[in-house]
Amino acid sequence: MRRIGLLSLLACLCLSLQSQDMTKEMEYITHQEKSLNDNWQFTRDGSNWQNVNIPHDWAISGPFDKKWDLQVTAIKENGEERATEHSGRSGALPWIGRGTYRRTFSVPPGTKYAALVFDGAMADPHVYVNGKLAGHWAYGYNAFIVNISDYIHQDGSENLLQVDLENLEESNRWYPGAGIYRPVKLVYSSHVTGLDHWGLSTNILYANDWKAEIEIKHSIRTPLLGDYLLRITLTDPDGNDITQFTTPADGMGNFHTQFRVLHPKLWTPESPWLYNLKTELIENLNGQEGVLDCQNHKIGIRSIRVCREHGFELNGVSRKFKGVCLHHDLGPLGAAVNKAALIRQIRLLKDMGADAIRTSHNMPSTWQMEVCDSMGMMVMAESFDAWSDAKVKNGYNRLWDEWWQRDITNLIENHRNHPSIVMWSVGNEIPEQWKPEGTMRYTKLIELCHKLDPTRPVTCGMDQPDADLASGFALVADVPGYNYRIKRYEETFPKLPQGFLLGSETASTVSTRGHYYFPDECGENKMWPDGQCSGYDTECCWWSNLPDDDWRLQDDMPWTIGEFVWTGFDYLGEPTPYDQYWPSRSSYFGILDLAGLPKDRYWLYRSHWNTQEHTIHLLPHWTWPGREGKVTPVYCYTDYPSAELFVNGKSQGRISKDKSSRLDRYRLRWREVKYEPGELRVVVYDNNGNKAGEQVVRTAGKPARLLLEADRPTIKADGNDLSFVTVSLVDKNGTLCPDAANQLEFSVKGAATYKAACNGDATSLEPFTQPTMKLFHGQLVVVVQASDKAGNATLTVRDRKSGLKQTLQLNVVK
Ligand code: GAL
Repeated sequence: MRRIGLLSLLACLCLSLQSQDMTKEMEYITHQEKSLNDNWQFTRDGSNWQNVNIPHDWAISGPFDKKWDLQVTAIKENGEERATEHSGRSGALPWIGRGTYRRTFSVPPGTKYAALVFDGAMADPHVYVNGKLAGHWAYGYNAFIVNISDYIHQDGSENLLQVDLENLEESNRWYPGAGIYRPVKLVYSSHVTGLDHWGLSTNILYANDWKAEIEIKHSIRTPLLGDYLLRITLTDPDGNDITQFTTPADGMGNFHTQFRVLHPKLWTPESPWLYNLKTELIENLNGQEGVLDCQNHKIGIRSIRVCREHGFELNGVSRKFKGVCLHHDLGPLGAAVNKAALIRQIRLLKDMGADAIRTSHNMPSTWQMEVCDSMGMMVMAESFDAWSDAKVKNGYNRLWDEWWQRDITNLIENHRNHPSIVMWSVGNEIPEQWKPEGTMRYTKLIELCHKLDPTRPVTCGMDQPDADLASGFALVADVPGYNYRIKRYEETFPKLPQGFLLGSETASTVSTRGHYYFPDECGENKMWPDGQCSGYDTECCWWSNLPDDDWRLQDDMPWTIGEFVWTGFDYLGEPTPYDQYWPSRSSYFGILDLAGLPKDRYWLYRSHWNTQEHTIHLLPHWTWPGREGKVTPVYCYTDYPSAELFVNGKSQGRISKDKSSRLDRYRLRWREVKYEPGELRVVVYDNNGNKAGEQVVRTAGKPARLLLEADRPTIKADGNDLSFVTVSLVDKNGTLCPDAANQLEFSVKGAATYKAACNGDATSLEPFTQPTMKLFHGQLVVVVQASDKAGNATLTVRDRKSGLKQTLQLNVVK
C-alpha cells in the first residue's frame, strides 16, 4: 500500500481533520444514486410550462409538417447533383429550436460531492444549478457528467436545476428527437473522495470454459492524503460469491489488479450470463478502515478477438455477425428511450435469429446496453456520422475539433464494461475517407479507443473501396467494414491487410408491410404513385442490394465476418426512395416497420438466420378482389429446401432452392400463379424429401371483429412499463383483412394510460400521440403505459363507422 502525496505538517492536519469528518459522515452517505426522471417542468417559449417526466421527446406529438427542417439540398452521398426539397428527411416533426427543462432536488446536509449524470440530451445541453452554469455538453447523442458539488446548497435545502437545449436545422440526416430524451441521475456522497463514476474498466484478458483472467482498473476521484484500498467482490449469476480481495492504490490514486475465475459461465448471445462486480473504496487511517464509496456493475466473462485465420472470435469460437443497424428512435415513442420498448425490439430481433446490433450512427443509451447485456445481443457501438467534413450543414463538423476526444472518451468510459459491446465504431461513411487527413483522423481515433479500451477492435463504415485503399483509410482499421459495395468485395479484399471483411452496413432493401406491386420485378430506386415499396422484397436503392446478395458473400466467402443490415426497424426520417415526395416521413428500410410489426422480410431473415426454429412463411396475402385470373406470384420464406404450393388444392408445382440463381437460392418462388380466391397452401419438405410442415393463407371475408394481442398482458406498476398491443381487423374465421384502413379510436381506463399508436405507414400524417389512427393493411400497434399504481387496465378500441369494438384487459402489478 502506498501513501499518496507528500506528507507535510499542514497536510497531516488536513488529513486528520478530514478523516475525523469522514468517520462521522461515513455512517450516513457513502454513495447514493437517485433517479431524477420525474417532476420536471418543460417550456419551449419560456412562459408556458408543462409538467413532464423524462425521458421526454418534445417533438414526437407533432404535428407532422414538411416545413420543419425542410432541407433544400443535394444529398451528395445519394448521388444527387441538384438541390431539391427533402421534406421528410429528418422526420417532419418540430424538433428544431429551443427548449428548457427544470426541476428541484435536494441533497442531505453534509454532502461533499454531487454530480449529475445525463445519458443524453438533444442537443447542446447547458446545465444550470441554482442559476449558475454548472456544465455543458455539445453533442446531443452522448452521455456526460456534471460535477455540481460547488453549486448545491450545503444545508439540505432545495436546489433548482435547469437544462437549456437547442437544436439547429440541418444538423441531422434523420430524426434526432428533442429534449432530455434519456435518463438523468444524481450521484452524491458525504466524501469528496470516491470512485470515479466511470472509472472502472474490466478487461477480460482471456476466457474459456476452464478459466478466465480478468484485469480490473479503477480510478479515484479527488484522492487526498491517505491509504486507499479497493475491495473487489465477484458474485456469479446464481448469486454465489466467487472471490473477494482487496488491492492497494498506486501513487496516482489508481487501482490495477488481475484475478482468475475458474470454470466461468461465459457470456454469449445464446447464454448471456452476468456476474456482479462490486467495487468498494476503502480508506485506511491509522489501522481503521472505512468504506468511502461503492459501485455495482453487471459484467460478462467473455473474450473477443479478430484475426486473419479465424475472423471474429467470441470465446475462441469464430462466428459471423447476423446483425442489424438501428437508429435510436423508438418509432411512435420518438427518441424518448424506454426499457420495455428496447426489450421488445431485442426480443423480436432475437427471434429472427439476429445476434448483433450496430447503434448507427451514434452513442447508445445505457438502458439499451443493459438490455443487450442481459438478453444477449452483441453490439457495435458507434459514435459519429461525420467528422470534420460536413454531410449536413450543422452536423458534427461544427464540433469536431473541440469535442471529438471528449466524445470518444465519454462513449468508452461510460460503456466499456458492457459485455455486449464487442467493437467500437468511430464513424460512418466519413467524407474524409478520400483524403490523407481522413486516415490521420481515423488513426488518432483508433489510438484513443485503444488507450481507453485495449480489448475491443475499432471499425468505421467505409463506402469508397478504391479511395479507402488509396488513402490508407482501409488499411489502418482493426476491422475493415464496407457499407454496401458488394460488387467490390471479391476484387478489393486481397488488398486488405487484415485478412477479413465485415459488411458494416448491408442490404438497404426497401419494402412496405403488406403492400405488393405486380409484376414482382427487381428494381432500384423504384417509386410508386402511392409512396410505398413492394412487399416482395425485390426493391433497393442504386447503392444497395437485396438480402440474398449479402448472403451469397457471407455464405461462400470464408473471409467475410458477417453483416449489419440497414435496418432492423424502420425509423423516423430518411424516407428513401421518397426523399423528395410528400407526404413521407419515415424509412422503408426496416425488416420490421415503424410500429415493430414484421414485414415479410422478417421471415426471410428468420429462415436464414434462426437456426433453432423452423420458418414457413407465405406471401403475399390472398385477398385480391379484381385480380381473379391474373398472375400473382407467391413466395415461401422457409429454411426447408423444397416445397409444393397448392391453390384451392391444385398443385402449382414442387420446387427446390437453386444455388445458382440470385433469388431462388434462399427463396421459393412460384411466379406464374393465377389468383383465385380461396386457399393457398404450401407443403415443405426437408433434405430427405420428407414432408416437414405446411402453411395456409386464406382469402379474407367481411371484416367481423377487432383482434387485440398484447406483447405483455402483465406490466409493472412503475409508471414507465409498456404493453404493445397489436390490433388486427379479421374476418369471422380470424383471417386478416389485409386492406382494411378503418379509423380506430382508443381509450384506456384503470391503472394505465394511452401512450401512442403507430400503423407503420410512412406516408401517414396522423400524430402518434392522438388516441385515433387508421389501420394500415389491417393492423396497427397501440402502446399502453403503466401507471405507478397496481390494478387492472382496460384498453378499448372502437371503429365508430362500423360499430366494431373490442376491449383488452391488462394487469398492472407491483
Ligand atoms: C448509408 C448510410 C445510412 C443510410 C443508408 C440508406 O449509406 O450509412 O445512414 O443513409 O445509406 O441506404
